[in-house]
Amino acid sequence: MPRVGFKELFRLGHVVADGQLLRYAKGDRGYTSRFENAFAETMGVEHVLTVNSGTNALVAALAAAGIGPGDEVLVPAYTWVSTAIAPMAVGAVPVLVNIDESLTIDPEDIERNITPQTKAIMPVHMLNLVCDMDRIMQIARAHDLKVIEDACQAIGATYKGRRVGSIGDINAVSFNHYKNMTSGEGGAVLTNDDRLFTRARMFHDPGNFIRGHERNNEPLFSCLNMRVSELTGAMLDAQLARLEPLLTRLRRRHRMMAEVFEDAPGVRLSPHHDPENAVGMAVMFDREADARAFGQLRGFERLIETDRHVFTNWEVIFSKRWFDPRMNPYQWAKRDIEYRVEDFEKTLDILRRTCRVALGAQYPLPIMKFRRRAVARALQRAPGISGKALA
Ligand SMILES: Cc1ncc(COP(=O)(O)O)c(C=O)c1O
Repeated sequence: MPRVGFKELFRLGHVVADGQLLRYAKGDRGYTSRFENAFAETMGVEHVLTVNSGTNALVAALAAAGIGPGDEVLVPAYTWVSTAIAPMAVGAVPVLVNIDESLTIDPEDIERNITPQTKAIMPVHMLNLVCDMDRIMQIARAHDLKVIEDACQAIGATYKGRRVGSIGDINAVSFNHYKNMTSGEGGAVLTNDDRLFTRARMFHDPGNFIRGHERNNEPLFSCLNMRVSELTGAMLDAQLARLEPLLTRLRRRHRMMAEVFEDAPGVRLSPHHDPENAVGMAVMFDREADARAFGQLRGFERLIETDRHVFTNWEVIFSKRWFDPRMNPYQWAKRDIEYRVEDFEKTLDILRRTCRVALGAQYPLPIMKFRRRAVARALQRAPGISGKALA
């Protein structure tokens, strides 16, 4: 969780004193526009559009990319449910895909799930970990699919020198309370594609026809309101200055904690697609009982127990219901989409044996060193890591 303090307070006070809360009031001089330009530079993309949530950023990205009724979108079975709901909001259906040990979408299972109706892949960079983007982009190009990265949980993390959220065709981040940058609630769409950006910008503002959002001969269309106010822009302008220091703290703590697991039997770091630059950490145990025992330790969380991110708890998806049956996207699907728990044994097995390791960016290093010693002692006490010894 990022810090929030005087930097934010000062900018918020400035907006309130100014009395101009609409993001368009000050044009390019407003906090929101300033933030978007600076964030685009940080992320290495041409365009950033700030919206009012990560979920809406995903919806706007899908809408911009032309995903719609009858289309199938590949989504990992381990993510926040918004990733699976977003395709439904544009009339498409989510098709669930297993994760692999990196805790991100399994490229081989992507290939197995491609049908003539598949139009997009949504790789999710969970827990500040990063997807195998080279493989995913290669598969997408071979099958003419759009890639919409969900980088909500990994703002600033890099994959082979590029920020995640800058690699797919059009991508999303979240600024909710728990993310690497926060405005309480918020999100952003990121892309290098002028046309996709124009469409996302038109989609996020019902006033698009009076604000000159249309460009490149894109016809106007009706849409929802996903705009942010200058209060959000002011928060994010301040938060951006905190991102790099946060990532530096995470990298340092990652190196420190990783050492503990180097030669420990029965446990290893979950494979990472860019280990040199890792800012998120998970450890995988040979035995489920050991993961359960380790999950009790401070700073560890067994992933299967974070029920909200595990597909088996997404009742809203399993029920295949939408707010109005006449607009239910499953009726437009070209085939019967089924969600069967038994198809995701691989995902469940990985989640049962894996714990997230909190890197404690908010704590001073001595506290993390203390925690590292506690983990090392637990490992020593339990050669072979017996669940009993750790409990
Ligand atoms: C992976 C992932 N995708 C999408 C979202 C949705 O973001 P928001 O809560 O800002 O709508 C979240 C938020 O928790 C998330 O973790």
